[in-house]
Amino acid sequence: MTSTGSGSDNAPRQGFGIDVGGSGIKGAIVDLDTGQLVGDRIKLPTPQPATPEAVAKTIAEVVDGFGWTGHLGVTYPGVVTHGIVQTAANVDKSWIGTNARDIISAELNGQEVTILNDADAAGLAEERYGAGKGHEGLVVLLTFGTGIGSAVIHNGKLIPNTEFGHLEVGGKEAEHRAASSVKEKNGWTYEKWTKQVTKVLVAIENAIWPDLFIAGGGISRKADKWVHLLENRTPVVPAVLENAAGIVGAAMASTRDVTH
Ligand code: BGC
Repeated sequence: MTSTGSGSDNAPRQGFGIDVGGSGIKGAIVDLDTGQLVGDRIKLPTPQPATPEAVAKTIAEVVDGFGWTGHLGVTYPGVVTHGIVQTAANVDKSWIGTNARDIISAELNGQEVTILNDADAAGLAEERYGAGKGHEGLVVLLTFGTGIGSAVIHNGKLIPNTEFGHLEVGGKEAEHRAASSVKEKNGWTYEKWTKQVTKVLVAIENAIWPDLFIAGGGISRKADKWVHLLENRTPVVPAVLENAAGIVGAAMASTRDVTH
């Protein structure tokens, strides 16, 4: 199988992305012209406990399954600067302070790795190939899941590691107020939960005035049940790439400078 297919202008035409989630580690080759996966993805269960070393081994198994030998992108559900993990809100605390980029790269015999925040990866993909396609200006993607992830993209350029899920909104952390896990845990209706989401969106739009919000995470598949209930001023559109967004964004990140 091909590794780093390149076009006549030397820009890579294919990339490889790995999305590390709480229950599965998924990877695929990505066509960077279209944002589509090339063939099937491989998904393996996330090892428990999900320590950096255990996750790196599973990533290597997924990569081996494709015979990919080039640069690859990997998502992580927290802040990563220069390959170093800084936070671990909803994952094993042993990640903090590790050089995840080097640990994964070592497991792959030195293959180059770019590691970036999971919501940043989804944002890159949705902005370019998904719900943000054709929109200019400042786009904010939020993922609603166990926590709330955020990505800020201005005219195609990612401002990495925004953490709007941890903003304090009305005396409470945004993700403790409006993650979809909060809805599930409390058995809330969409109406009740959406009121909390509105508060979070208003806090963000008052701070940075986006042109568009993209609502991602699993609950975005039910967008018809709740997006129309939101009362903030900025338009909100549901994400469209579903669970491919992380893989696609990770592959994009491996071909450009998105980290800091
Ligand atoms: C983390 C973010 C992450 C989000 C979604 C939050 O708790 O702080 O970095 O993007 O969860 O996984």
